[in-house]
Amino acid sequence: MKIAFLGLGRMGTGMATRLAESGEHSLTVWNRSQDKALPFALLGARIANNPSDAVEDADIVITSLLDDKSIATLFHYQSPVLSAMKKNSIHLCVTTISPLYADQLQALHDAHGTRYVSGPVVGRPDASAAGKLVQFLAGDESAVAVVKNTCSIFAEQIMCLSGPASTANSQKLCINFFVASLIESMGECFTFGEKLGVPRENLAFFLEKILPLPGVKVYVDKIFKRDTNSGTGFTMTAGRKDLALMLDAASSVQCPLDIASVIANKMDMAIEQGMEDKDWSAIQEITRQRAGM
Ligand SMILES: NC(=O)c1ccc[n+]([C@@H]2O[C@H](COP(=O)([O-])OP(=O)(O)OC[C@H]3O[C@@H](n4cnc5c(N)ncnc54)[C@H](OP(=O)(O)O)[C@@H]3O)[C@@H](O)[C@H]2O)c1
Repeated sequence: MKIAFLGLGRMGTGMATRLAESGEHSLTVWNRSQDKALPFALLGARIANNPSDAVEDADIVITSLLDDKSIATLFHYQSPVLSAMKKNSIHLCVTTISPLYADQLQALHDAHGTRYVSGPVVGRPDASAAGKLVQFLAGDESAVAVVKNTCSIFAEQIMCLSGPASTANSQKLCINFFVASLIESMGECFTFGEKLGVPRENLAFFLEKILPLPGVKVYVDKIFKRDTNSGTGFTMTAGRKDLALMLDAASSVQCPLDIASVIANKMDMAIEQGMEDKDWSAIQEITRQRAGM
């Protein structure tokens, strides 16, 4: 199959590399800043000059951009990119976008004669590169069946969900809410312990035992060591974007999401202090400041 991959950021690079290395598909890549695309030539991928050029002839177009806005820049009514997609081809969006926008994308593709699948992923960039992501798929049923095999190249667990595309995005937001809440709780736990004279390493030992998932254990280590470097992980800016998605989705169904508001406020403070490119777990630094440390 011919695949176009748009967006070679932290997550996209891992997924696209696995697709290229699998040799199972003919791959074309595009990234807004071209330097991230160039290494893919060595893996046998075609580097497209622009997103419309990338999607021409593609059976599946995968987008791993940042947010609703960046997807909307490329996909809207009569946009060059949408117009360049061949009829019946599939847009698989692995970006964490809002449930509302996911359904709008599905309607846009229905009207254009193309198919849409939401496929948000759980796992950090190292899981993406290792093919160990967890992925939720929902949207056009015939298209879900087609993309599932391709997704297994970068996701080790795939849940196909019935219902509109937004079902997958809603599930992703619930999971991210839980992870963000764990990060906030860990930051408070370490700060609370330190104030009471409890050795931080003792808390790290027990938190590691409580949390079996390697992807979540990463945060015990980062918070324990106060390692705020986002490196190849998840930035405060991207995390704040997800908190906004959660709060909007919660408000649309009148669901109080109190912890999310606390986390969003701390992220705003962190961003105000110039921590926008730090790891999202750096909200511990705000807790510490508020504890006078
Ligand atoms: N990192 C994680 O741990 C993680 C885990 C699960 C899900 N996610 C989700 O996966 C998505 C990507 O995250 P990431 O960590 O890979 O982010 P990232 O490294 O910041 O990459 C973002 C990508 O989007 C592109 N982009 C941003 N704005 C754009 C615009 N207006 N037009 C065109 N391209 C644009 C960037 O292009 P440039 O290179 O030109 O800037 C880059 O390719 C996000 O929705 C995130 O919430 C992330």
